[in-house]
Amino acid sequence: MERRTDYDRAKLLVEAIQELSVTRTVEDVRSVVRSAARVIAGADGATFVLRDEGQCHYVDEDAISPLWKGLRFPLEACISGWTMLNKRPAVIPDIYADVRIPHDAYRPTFVTSLVMVPIRKGDPIGAIGTYWAKRHHATDEEVELLQALADSTAVAMENARMLLEIERARLETLTRLAFAAEFRDDDTFQHTQRVARTASLLSRELGLPESDTLLIRQAASLHDIGKLAVPDAILLKPGRLTTGEYDQMKEHAAIGAAMLEGSHSDALKLAGEIALTHHERWDGTGYPNRVAEHEIPLSGRIVAVADVFDSLTHVRPYKSAWSLQDAVGEIRSLRGAQFDPTVVEAFEGLPAASLIDGDFGTELKLVA
Ligand SMILES: [Fe+2]
Ligand SMILES: [Fe+2]
Repeated sequence: MERRTDYDRAKLLVEAIQELSVTRTVEDVRSVVRSAARVIAGADGATFVLRDEGQCHYVDEDAISPLWKGLRFPLEACISGWTMLNKRPAVIPDIYADVRIPHDAYRPTFVTSLVMVPIRKGDPIGAIGTYWAKRHHATDEEVELLQALADSTAVAMENARMLLEIERARLETLTRLAFAAEFRDDDTFQHTQRVARTASLLSRELGLPESDTLLIRQAASLHDIGKLAVPDAILLKPGRLTTGEYDQMKEHAAIGAAMLEGSHSDALKLAGEIALTHHERWDGTGYPNRVAEHEIPLSGRIVAVADVFDSLTHVRPYKSAWSLQDAVGEIRSLRGAQFDPTVVEAFEGLPAASLIDGDFGTELKLVA
């Protein structure tokens, strides 16, 4: 590694702090920190360690060859643990001459010297380690810079945690609002939950990763939140809607999307996408934007099937419940017209029991 002047290092620190100030997740924080620590220290490697109850979790690293990424050690058995328990940096020019170091864990690595600084000195939540292959005795200035990086890391992590909390609270509030919207035309307010459940079954059947399936489940329950803006006279009308009334009803898609706009949470961003697109049709004749085929996001194509299936199989103000067979037949017949053929295929792949079982399917009318 090239030698850096104190000025260079201070400049790199300022850049890292600026980067940290705009991070929004702990993952972003750690990716800034692992490379910044290494560059600022001019080291051959850096690790990002989090305290996890009685253990040090080596969450991330940036190094010339592998260190301990993903591993956990008891706090008492590693130097990051020592730093956290003692709330101060450890500066070790020769690791094999220091009894605090578990030598066996270091033997397979390149490390000769290290500096470990605690993240949040008062009550450490983690530590940042920097490592050198050649013997290096870190100066007080170097340690101070690394500690300053760790202090900013603590602030950034606290911000990320609060942001997550706020997004969680926002999701919770909006979900309750969606229930309120639904309570008017479904006094069991289970339509959204059933749609969310079927949508998650469909995503799994389509082979989406489990994390996406979970997000779709959270987000799909907000698909009709825009109905809050639809007057009772229209929402609860037992008969056919006039063209004007239908146009007003259709606005719930765009209104829902507008209500969910501007969030940084993945679940709410996806919820906005679903709210906007769950009435688009594969053949491009849906609403509000008349987009077709793959212009419709997959989430919208999935929820479209789940939503129609649920409406068909349950009583609505304007219709009685269809049998499971009739509903499945209807979905099939709309394949390639209203619905994405791939999603219909996934729907057909779901065992009938999973469509009627579950927590909410008790009202389904099954024809023997
Ligand atoms: Fe809708
Ligand atoms: Fe719906």
